[in-house]
Amino acid sequence: MIQFVTVVVGLAWGDEGKGKIVHALSPRYDMVCRWNGGPNAGHTVYIDGKKFKTHIIPTGIFSGRKCVIGPGCVINVDKFLEEIHYLRSNGFDTSLIKVSPRAHIISESHIRYDNYYLKEKLGTTGNGIAPCYSDKMMRRGVQAKDGLPKEFLWDGELKGKILCEGAQSVWLDIDQGNYPYVTSSSTLPYSACSLGFSHKDIHRVIGVAKIYDTRSGNDPLFPESLLDESNEVFNRIIEEGGEYGTTTGRKRKVNWLSLPDLVKAIKLCGVDQLIINKCDVLEKIGCFRLYDAGEMLEFKNMEEMQTYIRSVVEEKTECWIRFSSSKDGI
Ligand code: IMP
Ligand code: MG
Repeated sequence: MIQFVTVVVGLAWGDEGKGKIVHALSPRYDMVCRWNGGPNAGHTVYIDGKKFKTHIIPTGIFSGRKCVIGPGCVINVDKFLEEIHYLRSNGFDTSLIKVSPRAHIISESHIRYDNYYLKEKLGTTGNGIAPCYSDKMMRRGVQAKDGLPKEFLWDGELKGKILCEGAQSVWLDIDQGNYPYVTSSSTLPYSACSLGFSHKDIHRVIGVAKIYDTRSGNDPLFPESLLDESNEVFNRIIEEGGEYGTTTGRKRKVNWLSLPDLVKAIKLCGVDQLIINKCDVLEKIGCFRLYDAGEMLEFKNMEEMQTYIRSVVEEKTECWIRFSSSKDGI
């Protein structure tokens, strides 16, 4: 029986540090599950100073939790097996990793199509995500039960305390994002129910944001000019914040936090607890800015900026808020 479900969701365009939060919470849960996306994601976790990355396997694996990749996910078999090998050779128990027989398999032709037709135009990660979901919706896709070694197929049930790890984020959602500059799955916390539980089982939604915005991939909302050398402050944030794609290695475009978008995302997702990451990066840069009410606001220091964010979020939403730095556990 399911005791309760917690969902961790990204409130911007990905790369808010969901992996870190899920890793910190995992020990308190029985199972850690992914409900959407595939190898386009990149979750980074530090253990005793050593950096680990996963793309499809939930970060709960680093805490020895049962890990489930749900029916709404897409799997690249070679990359999945590579990740299993990487985790196993680093001493993690990969027998805990199970994939829903109904997840879909990414084929070579999906990857070719993505790289040929979509990568340049839309700035996709080139992993075959859109063509794979497209075949799924056309009901001619190949499911994991017919494409993955049997030992990895899941035939159990969700039990105990469940932690769901979002991939991509609200503004990359196929319905709510800036279409067609979106991904092809549902990133909102409610779609975690595709794992096989009721929305009534979700007792808490944790929203993860960052103190500045970043965008990897194309999006008219983040023009290429943000990367110009003349944008010295943004380039410093890229360096200080390590704002390079985990999956693609591309420089992420940086902009000041759009507070109205953050508030919208909190409401859309029904966030109970908000974590705003990477405050230390702006402290290092010594520049404290955000957009609100149609203008750019500048603050004297991080404390003043946080006070302002807190007052707006508390006035407009019901969630409670916590600020975090790159090196904090949470
Ligand atoms: P796709 O998911 O590879 O089709 O890429 C679609 C868009 O989503 C592109 O703009 C990608 O850069 C972006 N995207 C996909 N996955 C992630 C992620 O995990 N983090 C940040 N951006 C992502
Ligand atoms: Mg990422």
